[in-house]
Amino acid sequence: MNAKTNARRRITLTILRHNPQDANSKPRLQRYALEEAEGMTLFIALNEIREHQDASLQFDFVCRAGICGSCAMMVNGRPRLACRTLTRDLPAETTLAPLPFFALIGDLSVDTGKWMRGMSERLETWLHAREREADLSRIEERMSPDLAEAIYALDRCVECGCCVAACGTAQMRQDFVGAVGFGKIARFRLDPRDRRDDAAFYELIGDDSGVFGCMSLLACHDVCPKSLPLETQIAFLRRKMAFLSAA
Ligand code: SF4
Ligand code: F3S
Ligand code: FES
Repeated sequence: MNAKTNARRRITLTILRHNPQDANSKPRLQRYALEEAEGMTLFIALNEIREHQDASLQFDFVCRAGICGSCAMMVNGRPRLACRTLTRDLPAETTLAPLPFFALIGDLSVDTGKWMRGMSERLETWLHAREREADLSRIEERMSPDLAEAIYALDRCVECGCCVAACGTAQMRQDFVGAVGFGKIARFRLDPRDRRDDAAFYELIGDDSGVFGCMSLLACHDVCPKSLPLETQIAFLRRKMAFLSAA
C-alpha cells in the first residue's frame, strides 16, 4: 500500500458566522480544520464540524440529494448546493457564507421560503386551468413529447435561490423577481392547459422589477445547479416584451 497516495488532505472551512437573533452577536469569520474523506461533500463536512467541533453552527438541509434546494450557500463567492459540492473539487482553503439577498436566520441558514412564496403569489405560479380542464375526462389530453420536455425542464427548479443570490439586479432591488420568477412565467406560458394569454403573463413581469430590470448579466444561468435553460427563456421573454411594448 502506498502511504503517500492514500494520505488524506486536511481542509479548512472558513465560515462567516452571525446570529441576528442575538444582540451581542457580531459577524465574524471562524476557521474549522478537518480531514477530508472519500466522496466528502460540503454537507458532510459541515455535519462533521457540527457533530465534533461546534454544535452551534447553523446551516440547512433536508434531502441531501439536490432536490429540496435548502442547502444553497456561497462557496468561495459562488452560490452552490452544499450537498452537491464535493470537497475534492475545492481548494484546501474554502470560504463559506450565507446567500446574500435573503433574510439571514443564522450563520449559513437563510430564509428563502418567505421570498419565494411572495414571488410565487405575485406571479401566480400555479396552473390557471381552462374551463374544459374542469371536465376531468379531458384533463389528460395528449401533449407532444417536445412540449412536455420543455415544461419539465423548467419544472426542475428547486427554488434554491442561487440564481437570485448571483444576480446584480437582485442585490439592488428586493422586489426583482429574478431568474426563478422568469422561469416560472415561462413554464406556465408554455402550458396549453393554462388559460392565461400572453398579455396576462407579461403584465406580471412588465416593469423594472421584472423583465425590464434584467440587465442580461446571466450569472443566474451560470450558477443554476439544475441547469435550467434560463438564458434562452430570459432572451425570449425580453424579445417578447419589447415586441408587445412596441405594438
Ligand atoms: Fe435554483 Fe435554478 Fe431554480 Fe434559480 S432557477 S431557484 S438557481 S433551481
Ligand atoms: Fe440577473 Fe440573470 Fe438577468 S443574473 S440581470 S436575472 S440575466
Ligand atoms: Fe436538499 Fe441540498 S439538502 S438540495
